[in-house]
Amino acid sequence: MRVGSILENQNLEKRIAITPEIIKKYTSLGFEVFLSKGYGSHLGINDKDYLDLGAKISNDENEILTSSDIILQLGILTDDKNSLIKKDQNLIGVFNPYENKNKIDDLVKKKANVFSLEMLPRITRAQSMDILSSQANLAGYKAVIESFANFEKAVPMMMTAAGTIPAAKVLVVGAGVAGLQAIATAKRMGAIVFATDVRTASKEQVESLGGKFLTVEGSENLETEGGYAKEASDEFKKKQEELLAETLKKIDIVICTALIPGKKAPLIIKENMINNMQPGSVVYDLAAVQGGNTAYTEVDKVIDRNGVKIMGERNILNKLPVSASNLYAKNIFNFVDNLFDKEKKKININLDDEIISKTLMK
Ligand code: NAI
Repeated sequence: MRVGSILENQNLEKRIAITPEIIKKYTSLGFEVFLSKGYGSHLGINDKDYLDLGAKISNDENEILTSSDIILQLGILTDDKNSLIKKDQNLIGVFNPYENKNKIDDLVKKKANVFSLEMLPRITRAQSMDILSSQANLAGYKAVIESFANFEKAVPMMMTAAGTIPAAKVLVVGAGVAGLQAIATAKRMGAIVFATDVRTASKEQVESLGGKFLTVEGSENLETEGGYAKEASDEFKKKQEELLAETLKKIDIVICTALIPGKKAPLIIKENMINNMQPGSVVYDLAAVQGGNTAYTEVDKVIDRNGVKIMGERNILNKLPVSASNLYAKNIFNFVDNLFDKEKKKININLDDEIISKTLMK
């Protein structure tokens, strides 16, 4: 049995699916690991690091793709590479099935098994494979670092002989995995942190991290059975808008993370709200690619509205690809481990296991 992975398009994706640290785990399951030449070199990992652990390296990416039983990637392969994939090969990654439906359909028609890990159920057993959580956690941290780097004042309160610098005030919109890490990071750096969410369960989590939860008065709990957010009613949106418009006048930094699965990101911070913010404030929008939580967000641009900077990136994880790859590689190994029947020494696509059935593209 062979596990293979080829280089991603480095302009879009710097993360890798197989780190040296994880090679031993594959070999102990009985897999041979087969990688492109220079697979990790942009992250300071030499081919020798992989070779010393028993992996195979090749210049011929087509050979890697055609000879591997399991192919592990981040994003979807290009059309010419996808055309090489055959029946019963297993392709695992984060393939964005909404955007790449046609490419995935082509692979499914050929009877290749395509597993897209953003479809993992949020159940306890799947936590060690949960790429959404591992990557969102890092994204929440990095969004705070990026916004603080663009903020031209100090963040913690400082009392000096020359006077006192007040602590910066941070608002986190959406307190899921990314939002909670953003709260923790901003608190550690001395900011005063506020947060809001449509799920009432998040109030306790925000408060346990030392954040102040802003409750939209008289609001219902907009949480689905799966733990995700539902789209808010017009009445809720109006009340949320009034609450945030007032709050934002005093906020220095906003971290936006609000998402509704399968939908465009909710527009929460409107033009008038940004126009009322103090010049020098910074908004980092982690929902930029899904349409943005602010009226001015543009992907990979820093927009200046009357001195307020609004920023958001296509892939913030490219700014910490080493940490992101380490976690991703572990998540994806745990998924393969669950897919592999250790007694029969073969891949077992057990559709009674919801981890497998929900991620398998049909
Ligand atoms: P997400 O990335 O889908 O959304 C981010 C946050 O935005 C959520 O907290 C959501 O409630 C909030 N949001 C949506 N619309 C909003 C609005 N209009 N205003 C303010 N906030 C808004 O969420 P994530 O981080 O994926 O977490 C979703 C749920 O999954 C949570 O309940 C979390 O605890 C749960 N979870 C469970 C895991 C497991 O058991 N394996 C692992 C990770 C998360």
